[in-house]
Amino acid sequence: MSARVHRRAMTGGSDEPVLRVENLRAYYTSKRGLVHAVEDVSFDVKRGECVGLFGESGAGKTSIALAIMGIFDRVSRYYASASGNEENKRLWELRDEAKKKGLTSRDMGVELPGVEGHIWFEGKDLLALDEEEYRKIRGDRITYVPQGTKLSMNPYMTIGFQTAEPLWAHDEDNQLTERIVLRRVLEVLDLVELGDADLRRFQKPGQFSVGEDQRVLIAMALVTLPTLMIADEPTTAVDVGVRRRILDAIEMAREELGLSMILISNDQGVIAETSDRVAVMSAGRIMEYGPAERVLKRPGHPFTRAFIMSNPTMEVIRKIREKGLVLRGIPGSPPDMTDPPNGCPFHPRCEFATELCKAEIPEYREVERGYWVFCHRYEELPEW
Ligand SMILES: Nc1ncnc2c1ncn2[C@@H]1O[C@H](COP(=O)(O)OP(=O)(O)OP(=O)(O)O)[C@@H](O)[C@H]1O
Ligand code: SF4
Ligand SMILES: [Mg+2]
Repeated sequence: MSARVHRRAMTGGSDEPVLRVENLRAYYTSKRGLVHAVEDVSFDVKRGECVGLFGESGAGKTSIALAIMGIFDRVSRYYASASGNEENKRLWELRDEAKKKGLTSRDMGVELPGVEGHIWFEGKDLLALDEEEYRKIRGDRITYVPQGTKLSMNPYMTIGFQTAEPLWAHDEDNQLTERIVLRRVLEVLDLVELGDADLRRFQKPGQFSVGEDQRVLIAMALVTLPTLMIADEPTTAVDVGVRRRILDAIEMAREELGLSMILISNDQGVIAETSDRVAVMSAGRIMEYGPAERVLKRPGHPFTRAFIMSNPTMEVIRKIREKGLVLRGIPGSPPDMTDPPNGCPFHPRCEFATELCKAEIPEYREVERGYWVFCHRYEELPEW
């Protein structure tokens, strides 16, 4: 790598969270009622740390990213208005009214769509910001590499132009010159190892492979030197070699920029390789959350165990054999989030479920320092 990106001055101790999500919930409207996509989720990301959001499809991982980026309500409302459903329209009007008055669903006595809870970022509660204030943070201090590259790039614009865009968009004080912007664009394209960046910046997305597109998207998310980058399934649908280069690009960016990250994936290998801490998700909730080594090697939650076994690594297969356990995946399908089960949402699929699990929602509790579990029976479960 030739160019070195000049990182922003880092402030605060390394243990200080840059992001703290507290009791986050996010509901979509749909034809069949409210989709409980995110339910009472709490976690934090420390400076320079990568937190992996790991879990099954439909668990609510992307919805958390959209909530942090401050675009969840807009996305959900867009689909609601396109469907022309009157009841959903009314619910969104009620949400607007609640927001104006600073009220929650509970205050209004009705379940409302949209995001509630707190998202603390560098001392500010993002959910209390108005759109103008949010706009200054979104795409600048917090950036997002969306799931799927195709819809995220403009096929008619050169990648040099698109990579520069976030810089111009956040140049509030007109400090930037063409020269400064070009230098930064080349630095980040170089950082993600797009060879011959000086020439290739004139190319359009159609002239790149899927893996290159993905690395350009990462460069776009790095160009403002953000504090936090959220990468949503950055290695889906690519082969092993391409995956390697994407992960290397991410690692390089973390090292060079002291970046904090949320990495979303349902691939255990990717999570193990990148994440310092892991939050395992199912049915809109965090099932367990703690150091990656603890969560992936000695999972304490029945969901994590079953999820890991449903796509086991060689190491997991060896361990299962050694312990004389039975290799079983997750029976049945994820719950319908318009009508989530009572009690623990995993109970219909859990081999350890009891009457208590069917009736009462478990507490999300810190069972060891820095290690949280959402299960009534954590202490009674067999060792893994
Ligand atoms: N625009 C939408 N309107 C209504 N429901 C939605 C919308 N987008 C997602 N959902 C639903 O919200 C829930 C959470 O979806 P989300 O996309 O956050 O899951 P995910 O964990 O990112 O899944 P994947 O691994 O497949 O990307 C799912 O039940 C999904 O069907
Ligand atoms: S609370 Fe009960 S149903 Fe839920 S994961 Fe724990 S044992 Fe299984
Ligand atoms: Mg997703």
